[in-house]
Amino acid sequence: AALRESFVWKAHKQNQRVVNLQPQASFKVAILGAAGGIGQPLALLVKMSPLVSVLHLYDIANVKGVAADLSHCNTPSQVLDFTGNSELADSLKGVDVVVIPAGVPRKPGMTRDDLFNINASIVKTLIEAVADNCPDAFIHIISNPVNSTVPIAAEVLRQKGVYDPKKLFGVTTLDVVRANTFVAQKKNLKLIDVDVPVIGGHAGITILPLLSKTKPSVSFTEEEVQELTVRIQNAGTEVVEAKAGAGSATLSMAYAAARFVESSLRALDGDGDVYECAYVQSELTELPYFASRIKLGRKGLEAIISSDLQGLTEYEEKALEALKPELKSSIEKGVAFAQKQA
Ligand code: NAD
Ligand code: LMR
Repeated sequence: AALRESFVWKAHKQNQRVVNLQPQASFKVAILGAAGGIGQPLALLVKMSPLVSVLHLYDIANVKGVAADLSHCNTPSQVLDFTGNSELADSLKGVDVVVIPAGVPRKPGMTRDDLFNINASIVKTLIEAVADNCPDAFIHIISNPVNSTVPIAAEVLRQKGVYDPKKLFGVTTLDVVRANTFVAQKKNLKLIDVDVPVIGGHAGITILPLLSKTKPSVSFTEEEVQELTVRIQNAGTEVVEAKAGAGSATLSMAYAAARFVESSLRALDGDGDVYECAYVQSELTELPYFASRIKLGRKGLEAIISSDLQGLTEYEEKALEALKPELKSSIEKGVAFAQKQA
């Protein structure tokens, strides 16, 4: 009986129904960096989506085996593999959503910014290909440091004359996933009910959970706010240290990225009630890029939910001011890199 009630069993039965039907929609998704720690479980989760008809897996190596393996799952989407720069363009043709987890992860003792030198170039090269081959796609950037790689992507798209700020997203869903999990645990709430908006950016103190805006409404002591905020800000490092040199979050990240892909596909499919947090071009603060809750629609970002920034607690107000200098300099670093390379 426990098995029948389990999430896995329900997902399996749901999938069985999906298999017997045609896909519910026929979107094409590409994952760049698909053979990596995030890429593989993300590909599996996207393969389970009834909204996807074709899944393109691109990496510089090892992607053939991943695609062969995944293609045996009896869910509707077709899986195609693409290896190396000569196949990059083909991996992007006709794609509706492109997800980018390509790049190196942290090791203990490193900050996300320490990844800049390697990942900035990787993101630049991949975005140039996106601009040339699927300029209308939703672009989901996972590669760190997200606070800088999103501005790099925007500059590259701008240089190519195809930048649509409504379609470029830094993926911060994992911060929300973590905040929801930790708050539910601390306050004994049903996980499915909890939703905490997380704003700012995706590194250290730039990650700011707005605990006062938690749904359902819940009160926290000052100590709880401090403890939860710091845990959410350091959750990536918690995983990096636990993995002790073998990389950073991959499974929870794949779960979070799959949620953001699913939300994007639902929005593309015409669902008018899709909200997520993401790091986007924004006028919410004086910074040009900022993570907040957004409404997604067929054309991408439909609205930025500005009300989340009203009525903040003193703790949140202070934390918001404190994060701005770091976020600003990460943005400027990204922009300067892209402009120097142009
Ligand atoms: P990984 O090393 O396991 O996988 C990265 C993959 O990228 C590898 O398969 C590699 O071959 C591929 N790759 C490298 N250069 C490439 C290129 N030019 N084109 C295509 N593919 C290329 O790393 P991972 O654990 O999957 O993490 C990937 C990135 O995601 C890291 O930068 C990490 O910091 C970041 N990350 C972000 C979040 C977030 O919340 N946004 C969470 C976790 C990890
Ligand atoms: C995370 O938040 O887990 C990722 O950004 C990876 C990292 O380096 O912490």
